[in-house]
Amino acid sequence: MPLKCAILAAGKGKRLNLPYSKVTLEIMGKSVIERILKKVKNIPQIDEIIVVTGFDKENVASKIAKYNVKVVEQKEQKGTADAINSLLSYLGNYNGDLLVINGDLPLIQEADLQSFVKTAKEKINIAISCVDNPAGFGRILRDTTGTISKIAEEIELTPIQKTIKEVNVGIYIFNWKTLKSLLRKLKKHADGEYYITDLIEVAYNKHIKVGECFFNSESVINLNTWEDYAKICEITRKQIIVRHLVSGVKIPFINSVYIEEDVEIGSGTLINPFTVIEKDVIIGKDCIIGPFARIRSKTKLADGVIIGNFMELKNTIMGEKSKARHLSYLGDAIIGKNVNIGAGTITANYDGKTHNTTIIEDNVTTGSGTVLIAPVKMGKGSQTGAGAIVTKGHNVRPNEIVVGIPAHPLKKKQNLEIKN
Ligand code: UD1
Ligand code: MG
Repeated sequence: MPLKCAILAAGKGKRLNLPYSKVTLEIMGKSVIERILKKVKNIPQIDEIIVVTGFDKENVASKIAKYNVKVVEQKEQKGTADAINSLLSYLGNYNGDLLVINGDLPLIQEADLQSFVKTAKEKINIAISCVDNPAGFGRILRDTTGTISKIAEEIELTPIQKTIKEVNVGIYIFNWKTLKSLLRKLKKHADGEYYITDLIEVAYNKHIKVGECFFNSESVINLNTWEDYAKICEITRKQIIVRHLVSGVKIPFINSVYIEEDVEIGSGTLINPFTVIEKDVIIGKDCIIGPFARIRSKTKLADGVIIGNFMELKNTIMGEKSKARHLSYLGDAIIGKNVNIGAGTITANYDGKTHNTTIIEDNVTTGSGTVLIAPVKMGKGSQTGAGAIVTKGHNVRPNEIVVGIPAHPLKKKQNLEIKN
C-alpha cells in the first residue's frame, strides 16, 4: 500500500496568542515544523509529504521551502478534520494510506513513527500514549471489552474521565478512501470546528476496527501553551547535551549549559557552566569555552582555542591555539593562529549600516581595552598597546606595535608595557 504523510500546520494556535504560526517557533535553533519534517523525511515508506498551511502561510512555507514538500492550503481554520478535508481535491481517488501528524509535535521520535508505520494494519490506526499530566489531550475511551470507542476532548470530559491518562497523540494512519467516506459524517462542534478525533466514535459505531500504537510519553508533548513550550525546550536542550557528551565533549555541569541544534564540538573540548552556543557553530577539539561565554552563529573555532569568561563571539573564525580569555566582543572577525586577544578587546564591526570584517593574522597580541574599528587588519605578529583604538582602514603592518588614540606606531624610546 502506498503511504503519504500530511502534516497539519494551518491552525491559529489561539492559546499561545502569537501573531505568527506556532509551527514556526524555534526550539533550540530549529523550528517546530522543521523538527517534524526532518524525522518524517527519514521514513523510507513515505513517498510524499504534504503540509497543510493556512494561518501565516507564507511564513510557514518559507520555513519549509528547502524540504521539497507539497503545500496545500486550508482556507479557513475550521478544525483538524477540516484541515484533512482541504486535501480532498489534491488526493482525489488516491488508493493508499495517509499518515496524519499534528504540526505541533516537535519532540516526536523517528523510532515511534517507524514502528507505527510498520505495525499499522487497520483502515484507521491511532498513536496513543500514557502521560502523567493529560490535561489538554484528547482522552482514549474504551468499552468494557477494552476496544477503543471514542476520543473525548478536554471540554467534553466528565470529572472521572479527566483522570484518564491514556491520550491521543495526534498522529494517525488512515486508509484514504475510508477516511474520505467517514469525513462526511462528522458534525460541527459548538466552537465551529470539525474534529478529526470524532472519526473514532463514528468508526466504532460502524464496527470498523481501530488499530493502536504506543508512543514514548516524553515525545508526545504538543505545543499548545507557553508552559508546553518551556517543557519542550528543556527536553530538547538535554537531548542535545547528551549527544555531545556521547561524542566526547566535557560538560561537567549539564544544567547550566545551552547548546542549540546544528553545533559541532570536537572531542576533549571543555564547555564550562553558563555557556550559550547558538546554532551553526563549529568548535574544534581540546578547546575550553566559558564560563559565561556566548558563541553565536557562524563562529568557527579551530583545535585548542581558549574562550574565557564574559566573551561574545559572532561570525568569527579563530585559528589553532588562539586565546581570548576575558570580556571581549569579537564579531565578523577572521583571526589566525596563536593570537592572544587581550582583556576587553572589541572589534567594532558595525558602523550603523554595514557589518565590517576585522582581520587579525597569526601571532598577533592585542593589549587590554583595544578597540579595532572595522574594516581593519592587524598583520602577522603585530601588537597593540593597552587602550589603543585602531581606526577604520588604518591597517597595522606585520610585526608593528601601535599605541594610543588613534593608534599610531610606537616610537623606539616610548616605554610600552603590553600585558593582558
Ligand atoms: C489535538 C487533538 C487531541 C490530541 C492533541 C494531541 C483534535 C480535535 N484534538 O488537540 O485529541 O490529544 O491534538 O496533539 O484534533 N490545525 C489545522 N487546522 C485547523 C486546526 C488545527 O491545520 O483548523 C493544526 C494545528 O496547526 C496543529 C494541529 O492541527 O498543528 C493540532 O491542532 P491543535 O489546536 O494543537 O489541537 P489540540 O487542541 O492540541
Ligand atoms: Mg496541539
